[in-house]
Parts: sequence; C-alpha cells; structure tokens
Amino acid sequence: MTENTPHNPTLLLVDDQVLNIELLQHVFKDDYTIVSANSGAQALALCASQLPDLILLDVVMPVMDGHEVCAQLKADPRTRDIPIIFVTGQNNPEEESAALRMGAVDFISKPVNASIVKARVRSQLMLRQTLRQVQDLNLNLEARVARRTSELQQALEHLQQSQEELAHSAANATLSTMIAGVSHELSTPLGNSKMVAGTLAEHARDTVRAMQAGLLKRSGLEHFMEQVTEGVALLQRNLERSVELLADFRQVAADQASEQRRSFDLAHAVNEILNALSPSLKRHPHKVVVDIPDGITMDSLPGPLGQVVVNLVNNAYMHAFDGRSDGVLTIEGRLHGEHVHIAFIDNGFGMAPDHLAKLFEPFFSTKIGKGGTGLGMAIVRNLVGKTLGGRITVESTLGAGTRFDVTLPRVLQGGGASQLLLK
Ligand SMILES: Nc1ncnc2c1ncn2[C@@H]1O[C@H](COP(=O)(O)OP(=O)(O)OP(=O)(O)O)[C@@H](O)[C@H]1O
Ligand SMILES: [Mg+2]
Repeated sequence: MTENTPHNPTLLLVDDQVLNIELLQHVFKDDYTIVSANSGAQALALCASQLPDLILLDVVMPVMDGHEVCAQLKADPRTRDIPIIFVTGQNNPEEESAALRMGAVDFISKPVNASIVKARVRSQLMLRQTLRQVQDLNLNLEARVARRTSELQQALEHLQQSQEELAHSAANATLSTMIAGVSHELSTPLGNSKMVAGTLAEHARDTVRAMQAGLLKRSGLEHFMEQVTEGVALLQRNLERSVELLADFRQVAADQASEQRRSFDLAHAVNEILNALSPSLKRHPHKVVVDIPDGITMDSLPGPLGQVVVNLVNNAYMHAFDGRSDGVLTIEGRLHGEHVHIAFIDNGFGMAPDHLAKLFEPFFSTKIGKGGTGLGMAIVRNLVGKTLGGRITVESTLGAGTRFDVTLPRVLQGGGASQLLLK
C-alpha cells in the first residue's frame, strides 16, 4: 500500500481502552499515519479538523457508542464517505449486519488478529482509492467532453459563418460578373441611341436654319421627315433593348442581393438569369435550350436558385464544352405534384468515375489555377439541400455528357426570408 500512495494514509483509531489503541498502533504504525481518540466525541472533533482515510471504530464505549459516532459521521456530507470498520467484542451476526446497515464497510471481532485487520484495512483503502480514481476520471471525462463540445460548437459556428460568407461572396461574384456583362451589353444600345439622337438634333438644327433663311424646300422637308422617322425607329429599338436588359438584370440583382422569398414563375426566373448571363455566354458558340413550360409557379428563394443555375451553366461552358463548338445545355423543368424537377443536361465531355465521386467536395477542381476554385458544386449542393430544401443527383458518362437532376419543393417549407446555408 505504502509504495502505491504518495502519502501514508491516515487511520483514526477510536476505542475507550488505551490498551486496544496501543495494540492497533503497533500493528499499523509502519504503514500508516495514526491518530487516535478514546471517546466518540473526541473522534467527531478529530474528524472535523482532519479527514482520516479510514476509521477503526469500537462499538461499545461509554457516553457515545460507536453506532452513534457512525450515524453522525454518515449524516455529515464532509465525512460521509470515510470508510468505517467496526471493531467489537460482540461477535454475533446480528450485530454485524446492524453495523453494515449503518454504513460501515466491514466488521472485525476482538480480539483482533493482526494480519486479518491489516488485510481488511488495506483492501478497504485500496477500494476507496480506486473509487476516487474512477470518480476523478468521471469528473475529468465530463470536463473533457464539455470542453470538446464547446470547441466543436465554436468550430461549427465558425463554419456556419464562413459558409454564409462563402454564399454571400458567391452571390456577390455572380452579381459582379453580371454587372460587368450587362454594363458592357448596355453600352451598345445606349451608345447607338446617343449617336442617333445627336444626328437627329443636327438635322433639326440645319432644317430650322434653312427654314429661317427661307431656303427650306419641300423636298428638304420630306428628307428631314424621313430621317426623323428612321432615327426614331432606331432610337426605339435601342432603348427597348436597354430597358429589356435592365428589367431582367434588376430582378436578378434584387434576388441575388436580398435572398428574399417570393412567388415566381420558374421559366421566367430561369430566362431572367440566362438573359443576365447572356453577355458572357454570347462569347462562346454553345447554346442553352430552355424547355420549361410557363405557369410553374414556385414560392421559394429565387436568389439561391439563380446561383444554382449560374453555377451549372458556367460549369457546362467551362468544363463540358471546353475546346468544342457544338455544346448544347438543355434545361428542362417539370412540375410533379408539389415538386419541381429541373434537369441540366449537357452533351459535353462527361466525367470519369473518380472525378464524379469528388464532384461535390469543396476544392475539387480540374481547373485550379485556371479560373476554378472547386467551390461551385459544394455551394450548389448546400443551396439545393439546405437552403432550398431539395436534392441534387448527377449522372455522367465520359464522352457522352453530364446530367444534373434537381428536385425542389414547389413551396419552400418553413423558414422565410434570408435562410442560412447551414440550418
Ligand atoms: N458539366 C460538367 N462536365 C464536366 N465536368 C464537370 C462539369 N461540372 C463540373 N465538372 C467537374 O467538376 C469539378 C468541380 O466543379 P466545381 O463547380 O465545384 O468547381 P470549378 O468549376 O472547377 O470551380 P468554381 O469554384 O469556379 O466553380 C470541375 O473542376 C470539373 O472538373
Ligand atoms: Mg464551377
């Protein structure tokens, strides 16, 4: 025992007979620190000042007997767990079971046998030490689990925050690409309109001047009227194109910026996105064919849906049709009961099985360093699964193309306006 414990355990010997105490002192003095008391009251006072590791308690004592001492020690939370071994001359089973009922851990009869009392004390102390270790371990374990849980909670919060930031940066990226494309696209009709308006103004000035000088002939007036008619038609066409571009872009930009839930027509929303993307898509020879009947009304989040469309269209253009000129991406939309099914089918290169397996993993890209970050499909899966409450599956055959199937609830359940990526 001694070699296993850093300090000698303390034994409290309680007996009204000095001889008995001396005997036990003799037995234990080499292995334990001994304190002794020759009355119940003294034993309780000692326990209040220093907690012994074990008590050998005589049962029959004047004034306060061992049972009373035991009852008081067991009633006090500070001393309740100190193991008590009763030592008594009354060697009968009833006495023994009464002692155990009172909370004593063992019962030894007088006259004590040195080796038996030593063995019993040792085994009780070992038991208590083991119990303490288990309790410590439990406490430790709880603290460790609590610490790990809070660390994990924090990590999760960070993750949610970065996912949100990612979603916002993806929305912003979509937005800035569109702004660049649409501004470029707008500059043509607006430039044309400005030029036509300038020419018309010049003709008008010339005509007025000729009229004031009395030089305006009928043929001159007719020529001017022709120019005005042509100019106005040109102005109308160019301004209509500008208004069209702006109208689609305005809705897409509002949806991207706000992530507001609203009711919308699926075909209309997809076409708005494609129109806003058209300036950059027009630079390639490929085609997007939209096969979605009018009248599929959704009540959901058009912003995130737009990001899904943008990513899948961009992926087809960037990966499936790379180096080809006959790429076709078909977007099919159908209503099945309360679910909307949208398929994105390209006739491109397709993916090898090992690429397909990693498709949705963040940072998997075959275009790292060439414009790809590998986040597109991870974001798409999150938007479809978490934000829009649906699911996405993919099939791909190398050389034959890729097909994404997105199934979404027609009416988004629960939630409301801005939904987070990770709920
Ligand atoms: N339609 C497709 N046809 C063939 N390969 C595709 C297609 N869509 C995705 N891939 C493959 O999956 C990879 C991951 O796509 P993902 O959109 O996640 O990343 P990325 O397009 O490379 O980069 P970004 O983060 O800019 O979208 C791509 O690098 C490409 O190899
Ligand atoms: Mg991508």
